[in-house]
Amino acid sequence: MKIINDPIQLQQYLKEQNKTIGFVPTMGALHEGHRTLIQNAREQNELVVVSIFVNPTQFLEGEDFDKYPRKDDADKKICELSGVDVLFFPNAQNLYFEDEVKIEAPDVRGYVLEGNTRAGHFSGVLRVVMKLLNIVRPTRAYFGKKDAQQLNLIQQMVKHYFLDIEIVPVDTVRDANGLALSSRNAYLSDKQRQEALKISASLYEAARMIARGENDTAQIKTKMVEILKPLEIGYVAIVNRDFNPVTVAQVGDTIVLVEVVCGTTRLLDNIWL
Ligand code: PAJ
Repeated sequence: MKIINDPIQLQQYLKEQNKTIGFVPTMGALHEGHRTLIQNAREQNELVVVSIFVNPTQFLEGEDFDKYPRKDDADKKICELSGVDVLFFPNAQNLYFEDEVKIEAPDVRGYVLEGNTRAGHFSGVLRVVMKLLNIVRPTRAYFGKKDAQQLNLIQQMVKHYFLDIEIVPVDTVRDANGLALSSRNAYLSDKQRQEALKISASLYEAARMIARGENDTAQIKTKMVEILKPLEIGYVAIVNRDFNPVTVAQVGDTIVLVEVVCGTTRLLDNIWL
């Protein structure tokens, strides 16, 4: 496995290979969710590139940038064992420029749900993803449905900026008990991990209600809020695949999303129905 820090060097190297490229951007502290993205990339492309970069521009003032888990050595091993060809480890100095041309999240869809509590977060995400996609110029790039709004905004960006890249959504990987894997789960105490199971429980109940023919999203959300108590709820939302809120759930075009705050940790989860 090759490890490259410099964007220009990586771009040059990949150009010379002249192969199909599967790309998995991450912030490290890799878990089975990331590994599944990498496996998908491995199966569908000649070369697999993973980036690890804890991107400062997507963390707001006072958020966990400084304490975000960093596990570079373990991550390198995981990548090596997962058949990654190139690991890209940039730093902020060689990725960002002073007073640079900006990519911004869209005014509406970038500022609802996650973008409402974290105003500006998605501008940072899109900014770094645009850079990474342009450096790697992958055939396919892999993103988790776990971060459904992020995935949606990246799909929009690729479309609006006419990038010739296939965005591949990957299903959420969960613990056997239902908890969606996340690097931030490392912040949870045992007790909080238990409480966090209410999140998937509420999503599974939403799925059951819809399967029974209940499609009134207000009713579904009320039931979910009951299940989530006493967790602090950020939002419970039901949207269509275009991320517009819906009053009537439709199988094949519905995403049910939850954000809760568990102690000081924000946890996101969702289910696609
Ligand atoms: P990170 O949180 O490290 O996630 C990297 C990728 O892994 C994202 O596409 C995310 O949706 C996916 N992922 C995380 N948990 C998952 C799970 N349990 N199952 C399946 N996929 C999962 O998301 C980011 O980093 C950053 O915002 C990034 C896109 C790299 C830009 O900085």
